[in-house]
Amino acid sequence: MDININELITAAADVRKNAYAPYSNFYVGASLLAGSGKIYSGCNAENSSYPVGICAERSAFAAALSAGERDFYAIALTGGKNKAKADGFCRPCGMCRQFMAEFCRSDFKIISAISVKEYEICTLGELLPKSFILR
Ligand code: THU
Repeated sequence: MDININELITAAADVRKNAYAPYSNFYVGASLLAGSGKIYSGCNAENSSYPVGICAERSAFAAALSAGERDFYAIALTGGKNKAKADGFCRPCGMCRQFMAEFCRSDFKIISAISVKEYEICTLGELLPKSFILR
């Protein structure tokens, strides 16, 4: 599968505009490239009962899984407190890494982006080595 990095990052930046983060003021957008070639996007959605909130990555995965997707190639992430523009590399939290490990191989790509010109690419295997296995 060809990964169009620009398209993924642009989609993440677009959905980030919808982030609901009145408590942390940290706005995150995530766009996930699935097996069908479609991109599914999600933003973080916080709650006045703080632990109830959901991260952007798991929102994107929930959208893709709900559409029947089960294969995933890459996710682009953009986040930060400045709503207008991301200003640092946003990497997935531990819970999201574990969530990804359920569906993604160790070569699944995680693109943390400030813009289409400034990003880093890690694999899930790098960010979550020796992950939990239920057996
Ligand atoms: N957040 C994400 O959406 N993804 C991550 O990987 C890390 C954190 C959100 C959760 C919360 O709404 C805000 O960022 C601050 O933690």
